[in-house]
Amino acid sequence: MKILVLTGSPHQKGTTSYLADMFCEGAKEAGHEIYRVNTAKTDVKPCLGCDYCRRNDGECVYSDDMNNIVPYLLEADGIVFVSPLYYFGMTAQIKRVIDRFYAVNSKLRSKSKKAFLISAGSDEDAWAMDGIKAHFQSMCKYLKWEPSGNLLVLGAAKREDVEGTLYSREAKVLGMESFGY
Ligand SMILES: Cc1cc2nc3c(=O)[nH]c(=O)nc-3n(C[C@H](O)[C@H](O)[C@H](O)COP(=O)(O)O)c2cc1C
Repeated sequence: MKILVLTGSPHQKGTTSYLADMFCEGAKEAGHEIYRVNTAKTDVKPCLGCDYCRRNDGECVYSDDMNNIVPYLLEADGIVFVSPLYYFGMTAQIKRVIDRFYAVNSKLRSKSKKAFLISAGSDEDAWAMDGIKAHFQSMCKYLKWEPSGNLLVLGAAKREDVEGTLYSREAKVLGMESFGY
């Protein structure tokens, strides 16, 4: 299966990129094909809401790195959203990419996909993840994608809080079992 992994942290070697590494390791071991994009390193402009795409068959008014992401997005059988918790939601870096889904909404809604959410935040309170979970669920509902698993780690301020822990194992298992064996 083809899996698109979108990561959203500016930290190249941070908490969530480590969890993404583990997910990818598991998914590769299970034979899946991974295309991974660190959205924080891409040149993807925020959606202008100009509706140029509506008048031009899904073509965006911008020509930027989204051109490289869209073909993988359309083709993927699974999408993994990986973001540190920033103000109880995903980072602006990954959200820029998600907002640009708008240009290809109808194509995205016509192919069923499995979707996964991986996040980590330093807060300890379980409610801290309510917002990001709700956002993920709503996106899946709208896009007609199947929410297929999540790993939401509380009390994780830095990579060392997850490295070599049960969370690391959980991320790997999530990748391995994402589409069954
Ligand atoms: C701008 C900013 C906002 C944050 N907001 C939250 C938050 O709302 N809740 C939380 O638990 N942690 C919050 N954090 C902490 C990060 O989520 C946490 O340090 C995470 O492990 C960073 O992951 P990364 O290394 O993958 O970037 C915030 C950190 C930053 C820099």
